[in-house]
Amino acid sequence: MPGTKNKMIIKSAEFIKSAVKPSHYPVANLPEIAFAGRSNVGKSSVINTLVNRKRLVKTSSTPGRTQLINFFDINETFSFIDLPGYGYAKVPAHIRKNWGPMIETYLTTRKTLKGVTLIMDIRRTPRREEIDFIDWFHDLNIPKILIVTKADKLSKTRQARQLAIIADTLGVERPDLILFSAKTRLGKEMVWSVIKDLIDIDI
Ligand code: GTP
Ligand code: MG
Repeated sequence: MPGTKNKMIIKSAEFIKSAVKPSHYPVANLPEIAFAGRSNVGKSSVINTLVNRKRLVKTSSTPGRTQLINFFDINETFSFIDLPGYGYAKVPAHIRKNWGPMIETYLTTRKTLKGVTLIMDIRRTPRREEIDFIDWFHDLNIPKILIVTKADKLSKTRQARQLAIIADTLGVERPDLILFSAKTRLGKEMVWSVIKDLIDIDI
């Protein structure tokens, strides 16, 4: 049937471990996709939506709950990495101070990293951190996936207006942005098709 032959089938999705530094990372033997974004933007919800699980990754209405690098095994074929969010002032200072080096070390040393998704809230204009992330991916030669989530929070007209502002602020083209919603699952198949290309699997 057209349109279903490339649908991603999730046979297993399991938490492997949390880590702060490379000596704690699991052995790098599977291709990895990492998920980055501002605190409370909906990173964990994007992962749960992609793998059809309600609570594989803990989500929270309290920002800044994910403070470690969390590794997940999907289908024993590839890994998803939930990175801690940035930009939340109430996170204790010592954790905020460690965030940059923790993420930078992961992005620069992880040989199996095939791409990073940067997740943004459709209601917010990107700021310095998002622009820095994109520059960083470019300098490190890491493919990026730009996801604009919580689409369900805005009307179609306001979605279009915000997408234009976000593309303009980031200096990317509108088709570079994937409109997403963890609530309606909008954008899920689009994100999978990009991920499948990056990890080079054909399931
Ligand atoms: P931290 O780990 O704390 O940085 O947060 P996070 O980026 O992982 O966000 P999380 O997935 O925990 O979601 C934060 C809040 O936003 C939760 O209350 C979610 O239910 C809500 N949320 C996430 N995605 C969506 C979405 O697409 N639509 C709506 N309406 N709410 C969402
Ligand atoms: Mg989270």
